[in-house]
Amino acid sequence: MNDILPEETPVWRYLEETVTRVLAGYGYEEIRLPIVEKTELFKRSIGEVTDIVEKEMYTFEDRNGDSLTLRPEGTAGCVRAMLEHGRVGNRQAQRVWYRGPMFRHERPQKGRYRQFHQVGIEVFGLEGPDVDAELILMTARLWRQLGLADAVTLQLNSLGSVASRAAYREILVEYLQTHYETLDEDSRRRLLTNPLRVLDSKNPAMQALIEAAPRLMEHLDAESRAHFDGLCAILDAVGVRYEINTRLVRGLDYYGRTVFEWVTDRLGAQGTVCAGGRYDGLVEQLGGKPTPAVGFAMGLERLTALIDPAAVPMERFRPHAYLVSVGEGTEIAAQVLADRLREALPELRLLMNCGGGNFKAQMKRADRSGAPLALILGEDEVARGVAGVKPLRDGGEQATVSQDALVADLAEWLRSQP
Ligand code: HAM
Repeated sequence: MNDILPEETPVWRYLEETVTRVLAGYGYEEIRLPIVEKTELFKRSIGEVTDIVEKEMYTFEDRNGDSLTLRPEGTAGCVRAMLEHGRVGNRQAQRVWYRGPMFRHERPQKGRYRQFHQVGIEVFGLEGPDVDAELILMTARLWRQLGLADAVTLQLNSLGSVASRAAYREILVEYLQTHYETLDEDSRRRLLTNPLRVLDSKNPAMQALIEAAPRLMEHLDAESRAHFDGLCAILDAVGVRYEINTRLVRGLDYYGRTVFEWVTDRLGAQGTVCAGGRYDGLVEQLGGKPTPAVGFAMGLERLTALIDPAAVPMERFRPHAYLVSVGEGTEIAAQVLADRLREALPELRLLMNCGGGNFKAQMKRADRSGAPLALILGEDEVARGVAGVKPLRDGGEQATVSQDALVADLAEWLRSQP
């Protein structure tokens, strides 16, 4: 679990602001959800035989003896909220997004943490491939806006319908049984409970076996095939490149039909920055009317690691000005001036010198603050009702302006600032 320190937050804010803007551009609405849900909810939605539910949840009993879990992902809670507030089951489509921390007790490594952050998107009530395409196009636009278009590639697969998965399951079990001696312990157990999960194994010793296994894509039902072809046709027409990866099964049980992952080779082993798919059965499984749904989530730690720091407009996160005050009575005068400036210029980011110090010490702090301007009040300035204005970055001369003129000058200068 990481602390995100002040020098790191600008890249987070840049990412979050860009995401927020792109999502608003597609008409998605924000939803805010609790971090804790009943344990049962995750078991029923993510699936009992998954790494998340078997090994990774932070589960505890509250004072009533209810079993609660820190959310390992956002989809389950989002569906729960949609059901609780009667927002699914009517014919109206819902497009929502959320952000926040998720918790999984994984083995920590670069790009894999126990508390991590996602932005997730969920759409309810639309079954066609058009909305699957919308989600993918939206993420492709986001990568372009973040300067990541060259860093990520799209992998796509279809998991078919429940019936075609069941038929495929039998074929897969038969194949795995004939290679029983090659299976590791986890896979032998899963062979009986959740054989598709065997394909998700990261064990290097299993990879050849997985590679040679029969492919679900070759056993798709006709409707799922047409749905998948429809999605590919839109991506082709708009010009989004993708690779069909028939091994892509995802680590959560609720998916059917479209699944996708955006991956990068720049982050080592943890290369998936954004992943999701269709989960048409989940709303009904959790007690609602049958409602098609599709969504994805992106990992913000991985995206912030990919973003080039030079692309982050740091100026937006620094103060505009640092107010220096040296001499008898100047501290109070500085408070009065600062208050007046803040009142007149609400967008002004003004850092006050607090805690005294001589002129040299205060100017040093002004410099360190990153502000492009120092405003200076000495006894003489206070007596004359003026202030010194010194540019700190581009070597300009110090000017003296009346405090009345300062408001107007700063207002004009702010218009030229990012
Ligand atoms: P997920 O694949 O488990 O899907 O997670 C989505 C993304 O969250 C991953 O691609 C990765 O970027 C990030 N992530 C996951 N675990 C970690 C970790 N331990 N440390 C850092 N980043 C991590 C879901 O969570 C689904 N709820 C997505 C979804 C929404 N499907 C439909 N709607």
